[in-house]
Amino acid sequence: MTPSEPSTPPASQHRAPVQRRLSSPPRSPALLSRLMKLDYLQQPSPLKIITQLTPPTSPEPAKPSTNSDQSIVPEHHSNSLVCSLQKQGRPVLCKDSVREENIPLIIACPFEVEVARDSANRPQLFGQGAWSKVYRATVRQWNTVSSASSPDSILTPPPSPQISASLLVAVKSPLSNASQTVLRNEAITLSHLTRTGLHENFIIPFYGYVTSSSSLVLAPVQLSLSDHIDSHARLARAQLPQRDYANPVLGLGSWLGLADKIITALAWLHDVGGVVHGDIKPGNILLSPSRSSHDFAYDPLFIDFSSSHILSSTSPVSNTLSALTTEYAAPELLSPSVLRDPLATAETASDVFSMAVTLIVAATGELTVYGGNVLQRQYMATQGWHVLDFVRNGDSGMRIPNGGFVEKVVQGAVGKVGDARIPASRWRDLVRAIRREEEQRRETQDG
Ligand SMILES: Nc1ncnc2c1ncn2[C@@H]1O[C@H](COP(=O)(O)OP(=O)(O)O)[C@@H](O)[C@H]1O
Ligand SMILES: [Mg+2]
Repeated sequence: MTPSEPSTPPASQHRAPVQRRLSSPPRSPALLSRLMKLDYLQQPSPLKIITQLTPPTSPEPAKPSTNSDQSIVPEHHSNSLVCSLQKQGRPVLCKDSVREENIPLIIACPFEVEVARDSANRPQLFGQGAWSKVYRATVRQWNTVSSASSPDSILTPPPSPQISASLLVAVKSPLSNASQTVLRNEAITLSHLTRTGLHENFIIPFYGYVTSSSSLVLAPVQLSLSDHIDSHARLARAQLPQRDYANPVLGLGSWLGLADKIITALAWLHDVGGVVHGDIKPGNILLSPSRSSHDFAYDPLFIDFSSSHILSSTSPVSNTLSALTTEYAAPELLSPSVLRDPLATAETASDVFSMAVTLIVAATGELTVYGGNVLQRQYMATQGWHVLDFVRNGDSGMRIPNGGFVEKVVQGAVGKVGDARIPASRWRDLVRAIRREEEQRRETQDG
């Protein structure tokens, strides 16, 4: 059995009464997140091995979320993922010792989740990336909780537990042994960020890590920024003649609204979360419908912290740069010596660059960033500080006019070296000022 796939606990383990400690059944996402805060799994030691990790599959351009993937988990794997409920009882969070020894904590998933299957018994996928498959799954909610009045009581699951309505989740499972290390690192970052204020506005809700299968349990969000840009680009191409040919495919107001929201999210990630994402691109930003009215109708949430690191951590992190999508990576990360360096990682300034490219793509609608064949695109990516000129020479270059709003927003973020790039918090302030300028321009025009 490959450890990368949802593991099958033997039937005996499934039934072992004293080894499992069940909390009261979760009833809602709100309860889930409250419970998550109580369940931490203290890790025995920080990552020790420094290696360069090669993703098991070549990174593909972000593809739309789908449930129609035909891949099959071999039959000897159960469709059940048993979350890591510790044999010794509820794990204890000891903040002081954690801080002193710099031992990262991983939030453990205290629930049992089950991968959803289609009518042909194939596991359903939300998507796939360089390191993982992300399955559609449900959190089981046990109905038989008669003795659950005390949260500390040990419950013995009955032989045939009744299961009530279940909550949909996304389960990110590793594709290989190398991916296991990467997903564990991702769980460390997500655990850290989930303990940081305002996380619910900026990152995917994280329900915990399943040690036995090295999987992450996340809230499901169907739409990615990549899907959103793609559908608008198709629409723009179909609308001939194009009245708004000099505007972003999302529309100027919506594009500026998006810029404001995702740069605000980046500033939070860097300055409040103290985290470098390391792989920012439209496929790694999911869009949740916004509850408040705004020029951009969605709240962008970062996913995929597989290339991330916590700035304050002294634990070495494996070099995952080979998994990056070249066109979105900052040029300094693409030199052969950096790719070979086991200690090389992305920096806040490289995140800023990738975010600028993401915004350029949200303007042009060209998800591959540059025109031409793969080699030409890779070459242009190594000269990424010329990105505005390269893109202007492409098919949709007219959407980034000289001196226009897109240029004003991104030009300070695509400098050749990190020092020449605007930090995310100043960038956020700049974008807000530019949005106000655009609003005034619109009002003057309308008035
Ligand atoms: N929480 C989620 N809800 C729905 N789909 C998701 C979720 N997380 C990831 N996906 C889908 O799975 C794909 C791969 O996930 P990602 O975290 O980027 O994996 P990798 O680290 O392997 O690149 C994403 O592009 C997206 O389509
Ligand atoms: Mg990804």
